[in-house]
Amino acid sequence: MRRLGVNIDHVATLRQARGGIAPEPVVAAGIAELNGADGITVHLREDRRHIQDRDLDILMQTVQTRINLEMAATEEMIGIATRLRPYSVTLVPEKRQELTTEGGLNVLGQREALHNAVSRLRDAGILVSLFIDPDLAQVRASKQVGADAFEIHTGTYCEAFHAGKQVGVLGNVPVLREEMGKIRVAASYGKNVGLKVFAGHGLDVRNIVPILELPEIEEFNIGHSIIARAVFIGLGAAVREMADLIHGAPLSR
Ligand code: PXP
Repeated sequence: MRRLGVNIDHVATLRQARGGIAPEPVVAAGIAELNGADGITVHLREDRRHIQDRDLDILMQTVQTRINLEMAATEEMIGIATRLRPYSVTLVPEKRQELTTEGGLNVLGQREALHNAVSRLRDAGILVSLFIDPDLAQVRASKQVGADAFEIHTGTYCEAFHAGKQVGVLGNVPVLREEMGKIRVAASYGKNVGLKVFAGHGLDVRNIVPILELPEIEEFNIGHSIIARAVFIGLGAAVREMADLIHGAPLSR
């Protein structure tokens, strides 16, 4: 079955807006799990703008599914990951000024450093995924540096989907067709070379539908749209509807 990893960073964003104790990300993780999430994803950023070290410590003790830790490949983060040993780590590029992760990791341009980071994390028993754009050169480089998996950055596709929503899904919006094509090729190539294929960024209950037709993608990491819908329909319902969509779509063997 395909998996939904619920990213709870934005629960922490809301808490940090007041610097207080609510809402508690650990409670969000429990509700997500009770409503069909197959894993909990958090991004521990260098500037600690949302998730705090304390959140990760408590999640490590309480999450009953799997924790996927998104992080930059820095010494500090590799130290934290190898000490706590979450189920998986997703290496992402990180810039202080960005609102969210903009674009994928340039694996090709930093093969040596990433090979080293991937080896250290894998030696600690952690599954390692690299967050990359749907670009064959980056998929190949991900295989070369020894990653177990790659997560396709679906941000550009999602923006094109949003821009094209009044002209029909995958209708005559060239960027959308082009992005969908890139994702399709990257997913199929990646699976063929023995990598696990994941996807995430900007996905919501509507734009995920065409992506679910690609049977190679086994895991989706989704945050903002679920937390945004939770404001209106509740977190349990928002997780449940996404989990039902993902679990209902067949996965290739
Ligand atoms: N996957 C990765 C690697 C990310 O960096 C993010 C954003 O933190 C997501 C998935 C989730 O993106 P969104 O919040 O837009 O669903």
